[in-house]
Amino acid sequence: MIIRTEDIRDHEEVYTLNYHAFENREDESKLIERIRSSSSFIPELSLIAEFDQKVVGHALFSKAEVVGENGSHDVIVLAPIAVHPDYQKQGIGTKLIKEGLLRCTQLGYPVVLLIGHPAYYPQLGFKPASHYGFTLTQFEVSDDVFMAYELINDATHAIRGELRYPKAFF
Ligand SMILES: CC(C)(COP(=O)(O)OP(=O)(O)OC[C@H]1O[C@@H](n2cnc3c(N)ncnc32)[C@H](O)[C@@H]1OP(=O)(O)O)[C@@H](O)C(=O)NCCC(=O)NCCS
Repeated sequence: MIIRTEDIRDHEEVYTLNYHAFENREDESKLIERIRSSSSFIPELSLIAEFDQKVVGHALFSKAEVVGENGSHDVIVLAPIAVHPDYQKQGIGTKLIKEGLLRCTQLGYPVVLLIGHPAYYPQLGFKPASHYGFTLTQFEVSDDVFMAYELINDATHAIRGELRYPKAFF
């Protein structure tokens, strides 16, 4: 199993993978297409898990902004992430996230934010985003599902504020 950067030739498989992983719903596949064609897209942060020359997992990290007292700051949001149902619970999601966090750090971003399962992401070091002073008003979600992973120690102090997902998410 390898983790690599997504290529244009993967697009169809990524669409189908997300469709199956999200119980035959197209919303996430379409979200990926909108993000890919927006200025939030960072090609090296669209990650593929490949096994036996098949796409078995995908994670998309893309750009968003936090608006606070000190102005506006670029941050990364993770959405969506999917592992093919036949390959779940084998650590593939974890590998995709770890590689994504590493690449985001290398690119110099301060934090990754997401809305997700509160039982899953804390295992990987995510904390409630409120812990770092981030707020969210665009989506009505409970505190425990809005989470953050600080990539640079204490970097969140200077940028705390409201997360604004870009237009592609709506
Ligand atoms: C969520 C998802 C990407 C995880 O990928 P994965 O490769 O199965 O995850 P890993 O094998 O790395 O980790 C498995 C761990 O996550 C937990 N987990 C996986 N999905 C979970 C869920 N929906 N809710 C709570 N915990 C979950 C498992 O219980 C397991 O924990 P354990 O090791 O303590 O038993 C995958 O299950 C998936 O594609 N789900 C459908 C799409 C989805 O919901 N995407 C995420 C939206 S936030």
